[in-house]
Amino acid sequence: MKLIDGKAIANAVKSEIANEVRKMIDAEQKVPHLAAVLVGNDPASETYIASKERACKEVGFTSSIYKLSEQTTENELLKTIDFLNNDDEVDGYIVQLPLPKHIDTNKIISAIDPKKDVDGFHPQNVGRMVMDMPCFLPATPAGIMTLLERSNIETEGKHCVVLGRSNIVGTPAAILLSRNSKKANCTVTLCHSRTKNLKELCLSADILIAAIGKPEFVTADMVKDGVVVIDVGIHRVEDNSEKGYKITGDVKFDEVAPKCSFITPVPGGVGPTTIVSLLTNTLKAAKKEVY
Ligand code: GUN
Repeated sequence: MKLIDGKAIANAVKSEIANEVRKMIDAEQKVPHLAAVLVGNDPASETYIASKERACKEVGFTSSIYKLSEQTTENELLKTIDFLNNDDEVDGYIVQLPLPKHIDTNKIISAIDPKKDVDGFHPQNVGRMVMDMPCFLPATPAGIMTLLERSNIETEGKHCVVLGRSNIVGTPAAILLSRNSKKANCTVTLCHSRTKNLKELCLSADILIAAIGKPEFVTADMVKDGVVVIDVGIHRVEDNSEKGYKITGDVKFDEVAPKCSFITPVPGGVGPTTIVSLLTNTLKAAKKEVY
């Protein structure tokens, strides 16, 4: 069993990005600027935003955070979006999800200028992704593709089972993995809450992407020997340890790992490459490589 070191892979990409930033500084160009909008005070979202800000610093990007209260109205948020769309200083920005229930997420995402939509969530970027046209790829699925590629994991002709059909992870991951490309070319089964014979499908997976949002959902009896497991989940689960909790993924790591050829740990697997994909998109936005 080989552990996929997401941190090491992310660090390698980060140093490539930092080199690019140095070249931009030498050429007296503006350094890339990533902004983030956070509505409310969801602790997980605050942690993600802090990690993104730290990553920006590491590669030499400028970053800024727009913190809005939980009570912010849809119209107020749309005003912030309009401001960011027109701020030439900002190359790309994200609106951290989930948004409070009184705000229509799709309306907000659709208001983001696709040229600055470094999350790749705007319908124009999603459409371009499906058509394999230049676009900003969503960060988590792009990070998964980076992990597979940089770990030299063969994907062509493999059966890839994706658990979870979210717009952020499962659906785009299924699209990227089934693309006609040497880096993909998987046969993909996208599973969700209404899937029948889930266990049998998982047992036939050569590559299993767990993005189901349930702690330790995937158990040893659900995977075959030699499987590649990519665990997208991250959960804080109470236990009897000194801290009172542990961080776990969607996979019961201790019992599944011995059966795997490759597996991502949680934390330190998918998370770091997700953040790096956002940096990659921001660099592309700054260099106007997509639009
Ligand atoms: N919430 C969970 N994942 C993401 C992400 O990739 N982008 C944004 N904006 N919000 C998220």
